[in-house]
Amino acid sequence: MASSTITGFLFPTSSFLPNQPQKCSLPRNLKQYHTGRVRCKATDDDHGLNRRNMLVRLGAGVLYGAAGLTNPFAFALPVAPDLTTCGPSNKPDGSTIECCPPTTTSILDFKLPDPGPLRTRLAAQDLAKDPIYLAKYKKAIELMRALPHDDPRSLAQQAEVHCSYCNNGYPQVGYPDLKMQVHSCWLFFPFHRWYLYFYEKIMGELIGDPTFALPFWNWDAPAGMYIPEIFTDTTSSLYDQYRNAKHQPPKLLDLNYSGTDDEVDDATRIKENLTTMYQQMVSKAKSHRLFYGAPYSAGDDLIPGEGNLELIPHDSIHFWTGDPKQAHLEDMGTFYSAGRDPLFYAHHSNVDRMWSIYKSKLGGTDIEKTDWLDTEFLFYDEKKNLVRVKVRDSLDTTKLGYVYDDKVEIPWLTSKPTARKSSNKRKPTVSCADLTTKFSGTLTDTISVEVKRPSRTKRTMAEKAAQDEVLVIKGIEFAGNETVKFDVYVNDDAESLAGKDQSEFAGSFIDLPHKEKKDIKKNLMVSITQLLEELDAETDSSVVVTLVPKVGKGTIAIGGISIELINTT
Ligand code: C2O
Repeated sequence: MASSTITGFLFPTSSFLPNQPQKCSLPRNLKQYHTGRVRCKATDDDHGLNRRNMLVRLGAGVLYGAAGLTNPFAFALPVAPDLTTCGPSNKPDGSTIECCPPTTTSILDFKLPDPGPLRTRLAAQDLAKDPIYLAKYKKAIELMRALPHDDPRSLAQQAEVHCSYCNNGYPQVGYPDLKMQVHSCWLFFPFHRWYLYFYEKIMGELIGDPTFALPFWNWDAPAGMYIPEIFTDTTSSLYDQYRNAKHQPPKLLDLNYSGTDDEVDDATRIKENLTTMYQQMVSKAKSHRLFYGAPYSAGDDLIPGEGNLELIPHDSIHFWTGDPKQAHLEDMGTFYSAGRDPLFYAHHSNVDRMWSIYKSKLGGTDIEKTDWLDTEFLFYDEKKNLVRVKVRDSLDTTKLGYVYDDKVEIPWLTSKPTARKSSNKRKPTVSCADLTTKFSGTLTDTISVEVKRPSRTKRTMAEKAAQDEVLVIKGIEFAGNETVKFDVYVNDDAESLAGKDQSEFAGSFIDLPHKEKKDIKKNLMVSITQLLEELDAETDSSVVVTLVPKVGKGTIAIGGISIELINTT
């Protein structure tokens, strides 16, 4: 393809990337929402009819009947995994791996447990000093490891749960050509909450202690910003040999890891980590879209886009922990193998704790859409029964019988970034006027782009509460078997890039290897409402956005950049 170059960017002469192949074979019309999300379903007008015909054709009515669903032909259906057609999952090297759970003919609908004593999840760094707890934990994992592979409670099967939900094992009920995905969308928090719930119950069952609670890797506080000691004893069942050897000595964690260590001293790193937590949880999580991730319903094909926390620090911690000597950063650095490392579950316990903190301390609310609330997952429980759960039953952890230790400090609640407000600002290499003709292109080096804002009138508090101003980087395209990462800065200095504890640092995009083909296309949304306040740029007509490729230079294409107002709920 012919192309032209401006420093840092390779533009194809055609302004569009080749369309991603659509996998659906069902009647549909593809709608490009303002989020850039492509839906793969019947048109609004003929939706009911098409879906009914289709379901009858597929015999899916039988499945719905068996599943006991009340309204199988409702307009927008929540997504559900089809166990009957679960198949091989994709590995990043192009091969496949069998991750489906044992089959069964009976599925139980989940019932909330009777209220009893709550299990309290504790910070992992404190448990090295608790021999009784530690002995139980090690025993539970030892027993899980010893179970035969076809026992759904075995550690191997627990890891495969993650593999099939992430690496294309499950078709969606009613859409045999479309795979279910629980990452990069609003299912990220509830899916993993359910997954840990059953994992914890299985551990309790194996050691005969139903009060047993998972620990959490407290990576959001300085004392927890290391691989917790209990996971590093090479003789323990909690150890996994496939981790980055450099990060186990112990080594201070970089919550926004880009593949290299020691760019800054430890004190700076801690400050950056705490500011990162503040940004991802407080100042840039004012909308459901940016906290939970993008909507995803039955019939949606593309994986629509992560919330803040899923990208940083969730993905970046996977990247930091995985073994760079393995082809795809196994175990933690790629999803088909992540669940083989017991540390995975402590990592997700803290991710889950962040969801609790979002609601208990930051005024966060639940999504009210039934597409989200009625999404279904299947898990084997501690008695080896296959159980069907819904997102709506996961919203309150006390109803599931557990809480997080609330005596653990949350030091980042006030870790605001500082603004540099440079008087020598970066000059854009692409102006507003050129933006649409110049994109798309490949990110070969740092590039600065001028992006127009929707309005230069200062917005009121009420307006900001209703709508969040977001920078949208659209159509980020890359090979699915590689790790990619780029950082985003707004109105930064011409000579040097801001630190991660400074306001000009706006956010990052990261993706971990999980499938073989170059057909990943995502959108990154970065909230800039508070950043504009911090930079005194609320009345500016445009901002200068700088993209810095960190991992995968020259392999990431960008479809376009814009600034939009999105509804917060
Ligand atoms: Cu399902 Cu940490 O990913």
